Formats: sequence, structure tokens, C-alpha cells
Amino acid sequence: MTSGNQAATESSAALTRAAEKLIVALDVASADAALLLADTLSGHVGVFKVGLELYSAQGPALVRELVRRGASVFLDLKLHDIPNTVRGAARELASLGVSIMTVHASGGRAMMHAALEGARSGAGAGKPPLVIGVTALTSLAESDIADIGWRESPESVVLRLAALAQAAGLGGVVASPHEAASIRRACGPGFAIVTPGIRPADASRDDQARASTPQAAIRAGADYLVAGRPITQSSDPVAAARAIAQEIETALTSAESGDRRA
Ligand code: C5P
Repeated sequence: MTSGNQAATESSAALTRAAEKLIVALDVASADAALLLADTLSGHVGVFKVGLELYSAQGPALVRELVRRGASVFLDLKLHDIPNTVRGAARELASLGVSIMTVHASGGRAMMHAALEGARSGAGAGKPPLVIGVTALTSLAESDIADIGWRESPESVVLRLAALAQAAGLGGVVASPHEAASIRRACGPGFAIVTPGIRPADASRDDQARASTPQAAIRAGADYLVAGRPITQSSDPVAAARAIAQEIETALTSAESGDRRA
């Protein structure tokens, strides 16, 4: 192989490793639109997120179809119910072949434990999904947190619930990029942090009040980055996904060279 070819192969391998960390939110109404995006973006993003809206409209059939086409699916339904009900729901969702699913950490230790049991039994001989916790919704303002009765700052609620999720055996949490660094410090390495609200440095923030760039999220310790509209509403979704993957790769490389210097 010529050195030019070798360099091109290395740079494409690096972009692939970055793309694996990119989750695209399929926030579209129809199955056709979701499947078209999944086919178009295949190989350019690691995971496809199906949220409550798309799941409510299209149900398990769409998830099965995405999995059949080889997609990794993050089913973000934020389960929160009594342990027995959550165990059963997690079993059914895991049996669809999803890779990641969410539960509310405020459902408590027994509920999270039941979700893990359900996910394991639903996966059968397959790999169980990564079950991650939602701490405090980022839409909650300080006054909402007080109304709920959590007599703490939003940051300490997030850290307490992240620690509870970890103690219950969950594999990680969803968190704003602004909370990621303190969760990483509190929960250590190996606990997955998934951050939504990602915007490329030069992009519109849409309605994300506290957006972060891919570099800032990676530097704060995020393992997976969720981006929706910057990709799905772009006139060229592949180019938009590749640009974000490139920003992730730049941050990973600079973090590694920082580690080597330290
Ligand atoms: O289009 P955008 O990049 O803002 O989409 C972000 C996705 O992440 C949406 O599916 C949204 O529901 C989800 N999300 C979020 N903030 C949270 C939790 C989830 O934006 N705190």
C-alpha cells in the first residue's frame, strides 16, 4: 500500500471510531422517513435513537425493522413504573434487539434492578442492552426541582441519582454535557455518559438552551453524543454527520495526546 493510501485508511479508521460515538435522534413522524435516514446514515453514525414520539407512532415493528437492517438502536422510552411492570417492559424491549435503553433513576434502586433483570432475560442468548438512567430532566429549572420536593441544587440531584443508578448496576446515565465532567469524577471510568444537546461549533442551537460542541462534550468525559436536527434537518445529512464525527475525532486525538504528556 502506498503511504498516501495508508494515511487515507488510517484517517477513515479514526473517523469510524468517532462515528461509533455519534447517536442520531430519529425525531421524525413516519416510518418511511426514519428508515430512509437510517439507510442514508448507515456507516456514518454508530447508533439510531428512537424516542417516545416515533415509538408511539410506529411501535415495535419499526424497531424490529431498523435492527433487521443492521442498525444499533437506542430505545429512549425513559421507563418509570413499579419494578414488576418495568421488568416486563424491559424484557419485551430487549427482545426487539435494541442496544441501549433508558429508565428514570428516580424510580429507585429496585426498579432499576428489575429493568436490568428484564433486559437480560429479554435478550436471551444475545447481548443484553446497555441500560442507562435518566437523572433529572434537563428541562427542569431550579424552581421545578423545588416543586417536586427535591431540596437540593439541580447539580446535586443529578450526582445523587447518577450514583444511585451506578449502585443499582446500571451501565451509565444520560446527562447534559455541562454535568458530564462532575458525573465522570463521581462515577469513575467505565460508566457510560450519553450527552444530548450537541451542536457543531457553527450551528444553530434550535431550542437547546444549554447546547455544547462535540469537543466540549468529549473533553467533559462523554462516551456517546446525541445529535438530532443538526443532522436530520440538514440538506446533506451524511456531510453533517461526518463533520460532527470529525469534531469528535479531533477531541479524542487531543485528549489522547494530553494523556501521553501527563
Ligand atoms: O434535535 P436535537 O439534537 O436537539 O435532539 C436531541 C435529542 O435528544 C432529542 O431526541 C431530545 O428529545 C433528546 N434529549 C435532549 N435533552 C435531554 C434528553 C434527551 O435533547 N436532556
